[in-house]
Amino acid sequence: MASSAGNAPSVGLPAESSRFVGRSRELKQLSNLLTRARLVTVTGVGGAGKTRLALQAARRGRQAFPDGTAYVSVADLQDGELIGQLVAGAMGLTGAMHRWTAELLAVQIGDRRMLLVLDNCEQLVGPCADLVDTLLRVNPRLTILTTSRELLAVPGEHTFPILPLTVPAPDCPLEAFGQYDAVELFVERARSVLPTFELSSSNHRQVAELCRTLDGLPLALELAAVRLRALSLEQIVELLIARPDLLDGARRGGPLRHRTLTASRGWSYDLCEPKEQLLWSRLSVFSGAVELDAAEAICADDDLPAFEIMLLLTSLVDKSILIRDEAEGRVRYRLLQTIRQFGQSILETSPAAVLTWRRRHRDWYLEVVRQTFLDWRTVSRNERLRILCDDIANRLAALEFCVEQPGESVAGLTLASSLYHYS
Ligand SMILES: Nc1ncnc2c1ncn2[C@@H]1O[C@H](COP(=O)(O)OP(=O)(O)OP(=O)(O)O)[C@@H](O)[C@H]1O
Ligand SMILES: [Mg+2]
Repeated sequence: MASSAGNAPSVGLPAESSRFVGRSRELKQLSNLLTRARLVTVTGVGGAGKTRLALQAARRGRQAFPDGTAYVSVADLQDGELIGQLVAGAMGLTGAMHRWTAELLAVQIGDRRMLLVLDNCEQLVGPCADLVDTLLRVNPRLTILTTSRELLAVPGEHTFPILPLTVPAPDCPLEAFGQYDAVELFVERARSVLPTFELSSSNHRQVAELCRTLDGLPLALELAAVRLRALSLEQIVELLIARPDLLDGARRGGPLRHRTLTASRGWSYDLCEPKEQLLWSRLSVFSGAVELDAAEAICADDDLPAFEIMLLLTSLVDKSILIRDEAEGRVRYRLLQTIRQFGQSILETSPAAVLTWRRRHRDWYLEVVRQTFLDWRTVSRNERLRILCDDIANRLAALEFCVEQPGESVAGLTLASSLYHYS
């Protein structure tokens, strides 16, 4: 058996190639969590900033780990058996070991007080979970921070879900822009492309719109900033809605899945089971939030039975495809715009499928409107308004369907009149 490198394993976190922006609240919370939890998993949609946040927290908390901090990216690994070897290398446990099993690693780590950062575990979530589980059981002074689009689901795991960066509302005054991380990141990256770029009263509305269109997603904001090389801010904002591929091929360098948004989404898509993929594409006909009953009624068929939809929605949340919002005891699911567009692009490979699922979506919201009008006397005014307000984006999408399709004017008028009641 080979020898370990003694008591001072080499440590290291990858250097940052750009300035870390914002996230002060998350950074504080995550740093606190690392002082008391032994396994923390940062989850979130691809490109949300999990790796950057985890590295920042690891740097900040370094002092608490006198035996060092080790970093391993699992992103490009195909073979789960190699994770142990990478971890051993990152910890400075050298030697011609035939195979670094979890048990062997655990013995070598012993009672070192270390922080191990395992990055992008979704790629090999099962092998990562097995390794982490063993190390936590055997090495009492080891803390593990992982990032993953999907939970590891091992005992003792504390999840730390992150959302994209905060964005300003359409009516936000320029003076308040400083508090929005998405704006700060975009302006910072825009300056690296156009050194004279400034946030000003003449462009702040466009910057805000761009941040909102991209849901404050850091990866998307960076890719959009690169486009400033060739396009004006106005052009980018205008083109983004119609051409989701605008952000593809914008940059070189970095991991392949970060060169285009399509690649980032494709990475998540490939990690989904076929039924999850099917539901993702069908959910793309929704606009705004999705409720369980609507998803069951609209998206189910022989290939995707209604009784499975709830579990599939849960697994899409676990895989960071859907964001779960809860308010007043009601759970709704949300697709980020870029995730939705990817689902649409899959659905659009069959024009007949687009028509089917958009029609079913329209039928459901038309029925919601009809029921709300029928119940006009029995349902309280507030409840009625809540129903109509909650679904406004979906009713607009349903109305759009009626406008585009011949012979749908009666349904379109009913939907349009419900919008009148909303205003
Ligand atoms: N807070 C931040 N400050 C500066 N840059 C950021 C920040 N968050 C994310 N970024 C940048 O956005 C891009 C995506 O971030 P990151 O790699 O951390 O995302 P991720 O959630 O780990 O994505 P994936 O799921 O694909 O691994 C990177 O280029 C990163 O440098
Ligand atoms: Mg990452």
